[in-house]
Amino acid sequence: MQQDIQRVLLTEEEIAAKVKEVGARISADYAGKKLVLVSVLKGSVVFMADLMRAITIPCSVDFMSVSSYGRDVKSTGVVKIRKDLDEQLSGKHVLVVEDILDSGLTLSYLREYISQKGAESVRIATLLDKPSRRSVDVFPDYTCFTVPDAFVVGYGLDYNEVYRNLPYVGILKPEVYGG
Ligand code: IMP
Ligand code: MG
Repeated sequence: MQQDIQRVLLTEEEIAAKVKEVGARISADYAGKKLVLVSVLKGSVVFMADLMRAITIPCSVDFMSVSSYGRDVKSTGVVKIRKDLDEQLSGKHVLVVEDILDSGLTLSYLREYISQKGAESVRIATLLDKPSRRSVDVFPDYTCFTVPDAFVVGYGLDYNEVYRNLPYVGILKPEVYGG
């Protein structure tokens, strides 16, 4: 995998420190509230696993699976729900945990969908934000890192399901995806 990486963008240490910090902020902001973390599979699982352990207040966790990308590197704009939420959301505060906010199509759809399920509030925590590529108005409430317009992999993020287990975030060499 290493030889397909052009440059390491975020090291394990940088990610760990930032996730701790964001977890502390979330703990303070949601103190006394019923918090549900909703992880969007599969890209956010690594971030979710670290973030939930950086949160020091009681919370529950749930998982959703949606598809927007298929096998390509560009969003299709079509969001399909493959696995729905298990939990009842009424009276609860939902924090959607995402790996990367790119065009924003996935999250703008999910935010609306979750609101309609009766959640008290819906906010977004993303590991990475790629604001240069945004095509709809969606702003993350918690962002660990802002990244340039390059295709990145690792720490949960994939290209064709590979590279998710890299412990850092790196820029994929364009020749790997024919870019
Ligand atoms: P959006 O709907 O365009 O915001 O797409 C968000 C989803 O696209 C993320 O959850 C990722 O699965 C995927 N994605 C977008 N950019 C990248 C990237 O640079 N590397 C890996 N996956 C990406
Ligand atoms: Mg993906």
